[in-house]
Amino acid sequence: MNKGLEDIVVAQTKLSRVDGDNGTLIFCGYDIRELARFATFEDAAYLLWHNELPTRAQLTALKQQLADARGLPDVVLRVLRDLPRDTAPMDALRTGVSALGAGSQLARPNLAQAIALTAQVPLIVAAFDRMRRGREPLAPRADLDHAANYLYLLSGTAPTSTQNRALNTYLVLLADHGLNASTFAARVVASTLSDLHSSIVAAIGALKGPLHGGAPSRVLDMLDAIGAPANAETWIRAALARKERLMGFGHRMYKTADPRAEILRELACATCAPEFFARAQMVEETGLRILRAQKPGERLYTNVEFYSAAVLNAVGLPRDLFTATFAVSRMAGWTAHVLEQVADNRIIRPDAEYVGRAPSSVISLDNQ
Ligand code: ACO
Repeated sequence: MNKGLEDIVVAQTKLSRVDGDNGTLIFCGYDIRELARFATFEDAAYLLWHNELPTRAQLTALKQQLADARGLPDVVLRVLRDLPRDTAPMDALRTGVSALGAGSQLARPNLAQAIALTAQVPLIVAAFDRMRRGREPLAPRADLDHAANYLYLLSGTAPTSTQNRALNTYLVLLADHGLNASTFAARVVASTLSDLHSSIVAAIGALKGPLHGGAPSRVLDMLDAIGAPANAETWIRAALARKERLMGFGHRMYKTADPRAEILRELACATCAPEFFARAQMVEETGLRILRAQKPGERLYTNVEFYSAAVLNAVGLPRDLFTATFAVSRMAGWTAHVLEQVADNRIIRPDAEYVGRAPSSVISLDNQ
């Protein structure tokens, strides 16, 4: 029995390859380090949806399709408005996507739906964020790219080019990652020949958990709780003594540095306040030293979430939107995986080892 399906291969994919021993990540044949330097989110999404990078004309066409799809039906806005203001943004996003899917019944997932839903997810996050602060959602701007429009819809001001570049790099880096838990959830739902919105609702539910995409806000909570770098050692030892997990550390696949974490560390260094970056680095070094001493066989490194937290914070996002922003990026990968699944489908139906009671006869209540 492989608890947590570790090392079990259940699908073939042309989308991304995670080589955790060598610390590489490839999207459709392109190294993530190169994509992070040269690609925008739209390039990465096109690559995942079409298995090749776009020409200039194809990129322009995709940008236009995304811009045209930027709109939410009234019913979705009403549902979001009716949610309690203290609803967690990931719950609002899950509810918004579910409301968007009302009426989709069992339509076969297709690329047009994937593009439309990818365009709409940031709108749901931003609309809910504004409503909970007592403000009206803003109209999307067709002249802004995916990252810039998202930041504009949240804040009401177009981002600086530094903010836009930083968020774009983040969105490229997190757009896909093999058969992670949320992507697997999406593929399981798709494999039953359900609809795209149901697959994405399942993925959002899986991403929300702190062992997956729910970690980055908790990384900031940890950095806040530690306060001065000099407190890191005592704080971390106490947390581990309480059997708590250090958020942003460890990964199922990476037994060496996660390439995304390395790029995000550089980006954090360039975008964060120096004091904040120094604190994050001190916590990283101290956490790794202590974890490696306590778990010598585990080959633990910081994961993508550790410096994601610093970058998203520097871009000006509130911390409870970090996981929803992860979903904004992962929409490209989730939808690409759903399309790949339905193109060559067999229902995903693993087995479980029964470890319950031995068979016995039912005694009717009347005979007891
Ligand atoms: N803090 C403390 N100990 C850890 C951590 C951590 N962050 N990560 C792993 N370990 C230890 C475990 O205690 C375990 O030791 P034990 O067997 O003596 O108890 C050992 O390392 C192996 O850990 P597993 O949980 O078996 O590793 P798994 O591959 O199942 O889990 C996971 C990976 C969930 C990411 C884990 O490292 C973790 O909980 N990290 C903290 C949460 C986090 O950062 N999540 C974001 C992940 S990135 C992403 O999903 C986008």
